Formats: sequence, C-alpha cells, structure tokens
Amino acid sequence: MKATIHHVAIAVHDLDAALAFYRDALGLEMTERRRVPEESVEIAFLSAGEGEIELLHPLDEESSVARFLEKRGEGLHHVCLAVEDIQAAMERLREAGARLLREEPRVNEHGARYVFAHPRSTHGVLLELYELP
Ligand code: CO
Repeated sequence: MKATIHHVAIAVHDLDAALAFYRDALGLEMTERRRVPEESVEIAFLSAGEGEIELLHPLDEESSVARFLEKRGEGLHHVCLAVEDIQAAMERLREAGARLLREEPRVNEHGARYVFAHPRSTHGVLLELYELP
C-alpha cells in the first residue's frame, strides 16, 4: 500500500506560545488555523516541505487532547499517513487486528476523509489515516 506522511501533530498547552516557536522563531509558514468543535480542539498547520506540522490544543476539559496533556504533557500526539483508498487501508488494519477509533471515516473541512487507529495497536503512536479528496 502506498502512503506518505501527511503531517505530524503535537499537543500543546498554549497555541499562541507554540506558534511563537514554530512560526515566529523557526520561521515555518502557518497555512491554517481553526477550531474543530466536533473534536473539541483548535488546530494550526505549518508547512514543512512535503509534509506539515499540526499543533493541537484542547477547547475543553472533555477533549481527548486535554486528557493526553494531563497524562503525558506536551509532545507528539499523532502521525498522519495519506493513503489513496482509506476504506482499503482500514480493511487491512482490521484484518491485522488493529483497533480503529471509528467504524467509518469522518470528513474534515477540506473534504478529506480521516480515521484514527489506537496507539495500542500501532506500537505506541496514535495513527491517523487520511484520504485526500
Ligand atoms: Co491530524
């Protein structure tokens, strides 16, 4: 199966402080910043060559990102692979016994379909699969 790293996501306590580092100090271009209420997060994307860095900040205490920060502190939250056929990729993961967080992919603002696989079935990293529209 062909896949490319689409982005790596970092959970942060303070999005403005993280942007002061990644955008202002490091000089990466911010391509997007928005709230995603259905996931209870605010996100920012920074361009890094072929791939991107996603900064993730929880919007409320119930957010899974809030629980992540509480347990582990700031750091790598997930790796996202872009695939050509997300249904086929999900089928492969299911056959391998991996635990997907949803039965069906969700669709984001750009029309991309995405789904997550639990870190316990991916050797320790939350894995996002992404199918570009
Ligand atoms: Co992501």
